[in-house]
Amino acid sequence: MDKKIRVAIDGPSGAGKSTIAKLVAKKLGIDYIDTGAMYRAIGYKMLQNQIPLHDEEKLLKMLKETDIDFSNGNIVLDDEIINEKIRTPEISDMASKASALPPVREKLVALQKKMGQSKSVVMDGRDIGTNVLTDAEYKFFMTASSAERAKRRWKELSDKGETVSLEQVEADIIQRDLNDSTRKLNPLCMAEDAMEVNTTGMTIEEVAQKILEVMKWQS
Ligand code: DC
Repeated sequence: MDKKIRVAIDGPSGAGKSTIAKLVAKKLGIDYIDTGAMYRAIGYKMLQNQIPLHDEEKLLKMLKETDIDFSNGNIVLDDEIINEKIRTPEISDMASKASALPPVREKLVALQKKMGQSKSVVMDGRDIGTNVLTDAEYKFFMTASSAERAKRRWKELSDKGETVSLEQVEADIIQRDLNDSTRKLNPLCMAEDAMEVNTTGMTIEEVAQKILEVMKWQS
């Protein structure tokens, strides 16, 4: 593919962004960048190093010494592969808190912009269309009811052997939506030029197909 294309996929937790974005990237033969995993990596490191949310000095020092990269489908934090380690409710909560801290966003947004400059990418997150890849050729905003999103996340956690109630998962999702969409810095919101895709009741294949059809039709 000679023309560079950037696809921005935003939306709330559990709308199916990552699975869809990965599949669309695979079908297009381009890289997939999971920006949520980058915030999770920072949350993970803050917990590991016991950095309190309000200790700016420690946070800045830690960020300076932090390296996050994607390699062969893995997310690598300072040479450690952290794929599964960052998919726990504890890290979800910490990532949401860390993502509201200005120095964290500053570092990760700069890194994401750089990743989107040199190559074609599908990037998913909360502020990709509005802040990171503002000139992306294609922008999508994926939604689904909180009940459906909770069911999907609960299944993921149960498959991994975690015992948690569906009610708790839905309450956590609603709380995270609130944190993500009301924070001052780069809140979750749909870009004016994005297309909304409501995935409630749709399969992964159907959503990916819809996105690929829109891209063909818009180009
Ligand atoms: O998509 P996720 O659940 O893995 O994201 C983890 C957290 O990071 C979530 O609370 C929202 C935040 N996030 C963000 O603020 N901006 C992004 N571009 C991606 C994720």
